[in-house]
Amino acid sequence: MKKLLVTGGAGFIGGNFVYYMLENYPETKLVCLDALTYAGNLETLKGAFGNPNFKFVKGDITDRKFIYELFEKENFDTVVNFAAESHVDRSIEEPEVFLKTNILGTQVLLDACNKYSVPRFHQVSTDEVYGDLPLDRPDLMFTEDTPIHTSSPYSASKASADLLVLAYHRTFGTPVTVSRCSNNYGPYQFPEKLIPLMIANATHGKALPVYGEGLNVRDWLYVEDHCRAIAMILDNGRIGEVYNIGGHNERANIQVVKTIIKALGKSEDLITYVKDRPGHDRRYAIDPKKISNELGWQPLTLFDEGIEKTIRWYVENSGWWENILNGSYRSYTEEMFT
Ligand code: NAD
Ligand code: TYD
Repeated sequence: MKKLLVTGGAGFIGGNFVYYMLENYPETKLVCLDALTYAGNLETLKGAFGNPNFKFVKGDITDRKFIYELFEKENFDTVVNFAAESHVDRSIEEPEVFLKTNILGTQVLLDACNKYSVPRFHQVSTDEVYGDLPLDRPDLMFTEDTPIHTSSPYSASKASADLLVLAYHRTFGTPVTVSRCSNNYGPYQFPEKLIPLMIANATHGKALPVYGEGLNVRDWLYVEDHCRAIAMILDNGRIGEVYNIGGHNERANIQVVKTIIKALGKSEDLITYVKDRPGHDRRYAIDPKKISNELGWQPLTLFDEGIEKTIRWYVENSGWWENILNGSYRSYTEEMFT
């Protein structure tokens, strides 16, 4: 059986990836490593505990001694690095932890892969490393050759990590792949990000804070499509290559917010335009030709269907996000480790 390390698996995409792999790769054992920062939530993994192919380990990717001990003990075939500080607004308030986790943490994992000869390291990156595109040029999209041109401390830290990953490949021959995905949405996303925040606030009849004029555009991908793309890269991706992932689902923020309001039967009066985010990227749009042509990946869930499924999930699983809003998800996590 193969053994795969998933870092950041108690977060949004990592958690969805754990479920995707357990369901679709029954011959793979997963070790999920997570530091359980504010964004990590063991309730997300409730359905994985008890599966004989799943094990959870609490730990920090920047802790070199701990990581080396784990690698020594587990003998991984593959490492997939989701662990990161992931929220742009927080990176503007407090950049340092982004640099520490996203850059230095990645370096520790790369060193561990070299030291213990791990056959594959996959870095989960973002389209935000390419900066942004103008709103009036819908013909432009990010390809893998688009220059790195970052706007926020978050994207700068992710771009630094990507460069390090590719440099380790060139210098040390580390067997790496990198994927750069557009904005994800779906179950288990922390309610600080646009879609879950708007669903939570609208449910409670609270104001919906839209930055600037709400005209910034994001290219939304249903999280399961992202997970499947990563699995396909692990299976057949070429070592040393970068793959963009996105499904041509561009929407202006205000359109997304209005879709949520309508689905929940709320009033547009809840929309509150607030001060814009400093350095706010205008538009992201992915050209996914490379992954489509080379690996045959296609998104299976288009935005209209995915947003409906997502809203339904948040309505039916309100306990999951209410526990985050009232803070009790932290005590659940603490109980598991005392
Ligand atoms: P998230 O914030 O929901 O989850 C991050 C997880 O990493 C949390 O469980 C957290 O506890 C853990 N973590 C943080 N610091 C750690 C550390 N030092 N050691 C171990 N674990 C640590 O993030 P997400 O949205 O699931 O994003 C996952 C990855 O995907 C990130 O690398 C992000 O850059 C990338 N990505 C996200 C999106 C998106 O739309 N959310 C899009 C493209 C790429
Ligand atoms: P976000 O979910 O933070 O993802 P990212 O900044 O990484 O794309 O934000 C998505 C878009 O929504 C972005 O243009 C900022 C905007 N936004 C708001 O208008 N209001 C909010 O409260 C949040 C969190 C985001």
